[in-house]
Amino acid sequence: MAEVIGVIGAGTMGNGIAQVCARAGYGVVMRDVADEFLQRGLAAIERSLQRDVDKARLAEDEKRAIIERIRPTSELNDLSDARFVIEAVNEDAGLKAQIFRALDEITTPDAILASNTSSISITKLGAATRRPDKVIGMHFMNPVPVMKLVEVIRGIATSDETYERTRTLCEQFGKTALECNDAPGFISNRVLMPMINEAIFALYENVATRESIDGIMKLGMNHPMGPLTLADFIGLDVCLAILNVLHTELGDPKYRPCPLLKKYVDAGWLGRKTGRGFYEYGDK
Ligand code: 3HC
Repeated sequence: MAEVIGVIGAGTMGNGIAQVCARAGYGVVMRDVADEFLQRGLAAIERSLQRDVDKARLAEDEKRAIIERIRPTSELNDLSDARFVIEAVNEDAGLKAQIFRALDEITTPDAILASNTSSISITKLGAATRRPDKVIGMHFMNPVPVMKLVEVIRGIATSDETYERTRTLCEQFGKTALECNDAPGFISNRVLMPMINEAIFALYENVATRESIDGIMKLGMNHPMGPLTLADFIGLDVCLAILNVLHTELGDPKYRPCPLLKKYVDAGWLGRKTGRGFYEYGDK
């Protein structure tokens, strides 16, 4: 049987990660708390792979084989055989620490425990286990099957061997691993979120319309999406949570989240996933 990778969480990031693992030939145990979330995750994987079948880049039987390599479960104990686990649950530091403690109990001592966190300290997650040398950050970008980067984050105790095994795995996924040390927001969000926040301030201060702000950055800087569209795509609650981490932990007022972002989140206007953010999405 193929080597098994455990993936915790079947949401947008978790199901994307499960898909790239299975496509690289690994057996995957994908765990979420309820069958409903697992079925939704599997359906998203099927839809994503179908895009490649439609473009004749993947045969129908290969698609089926990839999906069959993914075993959904609601039991954490089913990950006990995994030599590599990638956690992709909500950005809740307490929940993640609890999962790392449990994984430390059930997996073999040589298993690597990775987190797809976008802003929580890898050093702290490592400290929740008895194997901080085998704890690492693997920050995938959304949409996972498309984006080439995995930001690989070394906690204070992460060993070189753990880093090398992680980098090799990223290569097997067809991704590029780029390394950084553990610091709030790592590199990706420390640079991206202030840009998004500044775009929201520009809207808040009526410097330009949403379309102009996005158009200027899209056409002028050759970005695939303008910053407000990207914020809606990421989720405004996620953007706010990451800005709060940057603001609190770096203590610099330049990371202060824009009041308009807070107001949208308070209103439940979280972007694409709720049908409304800086733009309206009729399909939700
Ligand atoms: N699964 C599989 N393939 C997908 C996909 C998915 N979920 N979504 C898009 N694609 C593929 C399409 O099939 C298409 O493939 P092709 O060009 O080979 O035929 C390609 O991606 C482009 O898709 P579309 O033509 O439908 O649409 P666009 O050209 O507008 O591209 C996009 C969509 C790839 C999302 C592009 O707009 C983009 O790159 N946006 C920026 C994304 C980004 O910045 N992500 C990082 C967010 S930050 C983050 O994740 C970190 C977190 O911590 C906040």
